[in-house]
Amino acid sequence: MSETSNHIFDRFGRKHDYLRISLTERCNLRCFYCMPEEGVQLRDKAEFMTPDELLSIAKTFVDLGVKKIRLTGGEPLIKKDAELIIRELGKLPVELSITTNAVIVDRFIDVFKEAGIKAVNVSLDSLEEDSFNAISRRNYFKEIKDNIQLLLENDFKVKINVVVIRDVNDHEINDFVRWSKTENVHIRFIEFMPFDGNSWKSEKTISFKEILDQVNSEFGVNGYAKLQGEPNDTSRNFELKNGAGTFGIISSITNPFCDSCNRIRLTADGKIKNCLFSEDESDLLSLYRNGEDIEPIIRKVFMLKQKERGGLAAFSNEDVAGHKNRNMTSIGG
Ligand code: GTP
Ligand code: 5AD
Ligand code: SF4
Repeated sequence: MSETSNHIFDRFGRKHDYLRISLTERCNLRCFYCMPEEGVQLRDKAEFMTPDELLSIAKTFVDLGVKKIRLTGGEPLIKKDAELIIRELGKLPVELSITTNAVIVDRFIDVFKEAGIKAVNVSLDSLEEDSFNAISRRNYFKEIKDNIQLLLENDFKVKINVVVIRDVNDHEINDFVRWSKTENVHIRFIEFMPFDGNSWKSEKTISFKEILDQVNSEFGVNGYAKLQGEPNDTSRNFELKNGAGTFGIISSITNPFCDSCNRIRLTADGKIKNCLFSEDESDLLSLYRNGEDIEPIIRKVFMLKQKERGGLAAFSNEDVAGHKNRNMTSIGG
């Protein structure tokens, strides 16, 4: 079979070669838009993939043409076997990366290097300590800022994910943009998305246009340039004149990028999701434990993938209220 025909395609001809694996649904922060104050309900350990199961399932995806694997959470680095999993995935012929809150990144710098990780995405929603601590309901601002610096000193490409929420952190947009002028950081403003339990209302989302309007108000339309993107980019990226870094916008709500979607999601409990917003998921782990061949089910799941937003008609308050999904912390973004 040729390499191309072996890939995971859907009915719309989209090739899926980017696997996002959630290592755990637990987290050491409690960002109010993502995680309930009391954390997630503890579940029996047996419900989650063991490192061996995770690695074996990941290898099947690599055999099916996956070229990039991103580790997510919850917070992936608090998973007990995170180091082992990162080292083993690092041996596969894929681009390996991670999305983390960076609270304990300092313990993993050498592991990342040894596993060939070149880029780290860090979630940081405010540059003001009090505000960040209020959003995350914990007090790790200093550790995170220090760890971002540590990543930069160690030559990792660092993207900063900022979920922009009205009346929470929207006044900080230009503070982040200014940061990208002096530091080699890649800021990505993310339109706030709805997930179960996160009290999303469309009015709370700050749109792509509103974000750029704010940037224009300080830097002017000629103060920055649009950058050429990669085909499967989630963000549209810009660079200030003489900027050390860049800034971009992930406009999942006002301008979804589903037509170029190449993403597969594997949850910590071994379910496969064909879209961030899919209502359905398939229990790959149980099939795997029963000794079944998981390849046919993977193909079937992607043949059933909806054209856009997991079949959600629109991001209106009404449509979202009638749509069922997991909470963000158990999907991993
Ligand atoms: P890169 O590989 O660096 O481009 O990272 P990424 O944007 O794929 O991943 P990251 O984990 O940093 O996610 C950034 C934001 O993009 C999060 O809010 C994700 O939920 C969102 N995101 C990632 N993939 C998708 C997707 O397929 N659809 C939508 N709508 N949003 C996505
Ligand atoms: N909307 C948009 N992005 C979100 N993230 C978490 N919750 C949401 C949401 N409701 C982002 C985090 C993290 C990434 C994986 O997903 O900032 O960096
Ligand atoms: Fe892909 Fe679904 Fe995201 Fe659209 S909403 S880009 S189909 S994961």
